[in-house]
Amino acid sequence: MPEQNIIAIDGPSGSGKSTVAKLVAEKIDGYSLDSGSLYRAVALGIYESEVAGKKFNSAKEFLELFPTIKVIDNRIYIGDRDVSKLIRDTEISSLTSKIATNIEVREYVNAFMHKYASEFHPLVVEGRDIGSVVFPDALLKIFLNADLEERAKRRSKELNEANENLVLKTLQERDDRDSRRKESPLLIAKGAVVIDTTDRLIDDIVNYIVRLWWKSI
Ligand code: DC
Repeated sequence: MPEQNIIAIDGPSGSGKSTVAKLVAEKIDGYSLDSGSLYRAVALGIYESEVAGKKFNSAKEFLELFPTIKVIDNRIYIGDRDVSKLIRDTEISSLTSKIATNIEVREYVNAFMHKYASEFHPLVVEGRDIGSVVFPDALLKIFLNADLEERAKRRSKELNEANENLVLKTLQERDDRDSRRKESPLLIAKGAVVIDTTDRLIDDIVNYIVRLWWKSI
């Protein structure tokens, strides 16, 4: 496993992880993987199965029948269907945070990431438990954070949602659930460099991480 070739970026929603991960990957001539989108794809699959009236006794039973997830050029597919947009739906976001507490789902997503990392590297992986659980031996670990108000502002803009208070409340609920769950809660991994992105320019943060990377290898 080329864990030496991995940059793990963790942090809450709206901390800038996705943007930073993609830009860092470009600068080091590597790849990026958004682990949240994998959880979202599983949640969408469960949602659609339920709407279709299918019943499963466990997440394991569902996952055995779930078509393969594919990630191609930062777009996410269930089988051959591009679901990159659908997985961002607000309803799916809330469901994702719930199904992400399931151990079988976490094992499934983690196995996907390990396989992906063995094929694509250097790899920048972002999520909640990447440095703490998925790739604890990653060469570089980063924890991004930002004030809740700033994160809500960014999310509202991204979602085109005028009601910033509503976005803030939903974010807070999701953060709470992600941080307090028993399985792989959001926390600062041992050895992680913590960066507060509230008042910093994206380019600044990206260049800083790239400098840390070159120093580490
Ligand atoms: O980063 P995001 O908002 O797309 O993540 C969606 C949900 O998935 C979020 O509620 C937390 C969960 N998640 C997780 O539990 N572990 C990860 N490594 C990434 C995301």
